[in-house]
Amino acid sequence: MRIFAISDLHTDFEANWQELLQCSRTLYTEDILIVAGDISNRMEVIAKTLNHLNSVFKAVCFTPGNHELWSKRESKTSVSKLKEILQFCDSNGIYTKPHKFNGVWVVPMFSWYQTKDLSEAISKDEMLLLWADLYFCVWNEIEGCVSDYMTNLNKKAISNISGDCVITFSHFLPRKDLLPDMNRIRFKALEYVSVCPQLLPQLQSIGSKIHIFGHTHIHCDVMIDNIRFVQNSFGYPRERRLRSNNFFKLIM
Ligand SMILES: [Fe+2]
Ligand SMILES: [Fe+2]
Repeated sequence: MRIFAISDLHTDFEANWQELLQCSRTLYTEDILIVAGDISNRMEVIAKTLNHLNSVFKAVCFTPGNHELWSKRESKTSVSKLKEILQFCDSNGIYTKPHKFNGVWVVPMFSWYQTKDLSEAISKDEMLLLWADLYFCVWNEIEGCVSDYMTNLNKKAISNISGDCVITFSHFLPRKDLLPDMNRIRFKALEYVSVCPQLLPQLQSIGSKIHIFGHTHIHCDVMIDNIRFVQNSFGYPRERRLRSNNFFKLIM
């Protein structure tokens, strides 16, 4: 059994979907795939992508990103969209809760950036007004910070986890120092909408050795304080033209 990771498949781009369809159907039949969010905002694309991956891998573990929770066009809230996605995963054998595979815990973690600081951030950087989540996410049920809501969902799920081999994953970054060099980023406000600091103590409390994340679309593989942090994002078609193609990344 091997464990692979990818994030930000964005298969609502036809080019991404076609590339995904070309991956081997025989290489990964004994392997686990971690998918760290941002498949699509459209339920039918999320469903066909996860079902395809589940037919390629022995098991697929998934946690939603921000694009999955865009809900306004469907006249529903982001929390109800989250429930719909989790229900789909439960019914189709996709893991969204921690599971032990041959002695290795694979632990999906819900996350979001700290929305309570966003109005202050907008006053510092008006580029944030271009951030689509502001217009397509609907948080009617949540009074406080969305990052608190999301990480509170993790508490019960991780309460029984311990062991020598724990791999955690989230869509957003658990540490600010995982942000890429901002000179490489055109959208400078990304730093305000990427980090979920509540995650770090949670993944440390269960002894995570490797944490997979996504969202910034910048590859990363670093050790910080004895935890390996990895991002292997697929990204948008225009981004892939600028770097070598990297599909599923072997984690262990
Ligand atoms: Fe993304
Ligand atoms: Fe994202």
